[in-house]
Amino acid sequence: MAGSGSSLERVFGARYHEAIWERDLTEARVRSILDIARWGLDHVLSVGYGVVYDYIFEGFAPYRDLRLQVLRQVEAAVPASVNRRDVRILDLGCGPGNFSLLLGEAGFSVLGVDPYGALIDLAREKRQARGLPHVAFQHADVISERAFGNGGFDQVINVHSLYVHPAPTRLLRRAYEALKPGGHGVFVNFTRRVRFWATVREIRHRDGLRAALRCLRWVLPNAIFEATRPPVGSHYWQEDEFAAHLREAGFTVLEMRRTFFDGVSLLAWVRKDAEKNEVSVVR
Ligand SMILES: C[S@@+](CC[C@H](N)C(=O)[O-])C[C@H]1O[C@@H](n2cnc3c(N)ncnc32)[C@H](O)[C@@H]1O
Repeated sequence: MAGSGSSLERVFGARYHEAIWERDLTEARVRSILDIARWGLDHVLSVGYGVVYDYIFEGFAPYRDLRLQVLRQVEAAVPASVNRRDVRILDLGCGPGNFSLLLGEAGFSVLGVDPYGALIDLAREKRQARGLPHVAFQHADVISERAFGNGGFDQVINVHSLYVHPAPTRLLRRAYEALKPGGHGVFVNFTRRVRFWATVREIRHRDGLRAALRCLRWVLPNAIFEATRPPVGSHYWQEDEFAAHLREAGFTVLEMRRTFFDGVSLLAWVRKDAEKNEVSVVR
């Protein structure tokens, strides 16, 4: 059999290797076409998300309240005598940059970091259009050791990204490391998933048709984001769990309260104490 195998290989060898080579080449071509298509889809989704998000950010009442609450909380940690340009704020998971720009417009120096390149591009365009040279954006993994260094920031904010992050406790720990001793943080996270039909029905029943239609402005894009985002996370935390994760990361929790749409989110205000023993690292 061995002899017939090798004679078969002699007869068909060249054609066999040619066929294998062609198959590999075809597979490689299909892979690169799929990679390009995936990149294109990601890009279109990111840009679409960014544009829709701007519309919601400006016009949806719960976002207007949240913007004000985040700004007030940041301001609460800054004495009136301090020049706001000297206050360095890190916006972890800044997305299309809306909170970074809000704080920049209030006079603070801000670095926004996000792993989605297309969102960072959008954020940079908006920064340029608004003329805010003290606001910068960086495309990077938000838990990377190298992205923004240690101990350089007075404040950290992180809005609505812990629940989708694959390693939210590492994100909290990186935020802690990024802060100067005595620095403050504002973290906002969802407590549960907002279901489309159940929410619209409940609001219509409770507040009427107009209110139900108004809430579509956020509930519908949010449902699309939930359906299309990578299947990671769903770290929805209630008060106790959220506080426990913040303490594990090293923070002192100063305040925690319900916020956003029907109180679906929690806003935590925390501090990195100046003289705290190093806690065990959450990795
Ligand atoms: C709802 S946006 C919030 C953006 C911004 N903080 C805001 O509130 O305007 C969600 C953010 O979560 C982050 N995110 C989503 N999925 C992620 C993933 N799989 N890994 C890391 N970050 C992710 C991205 O930073 C994205 O910009």
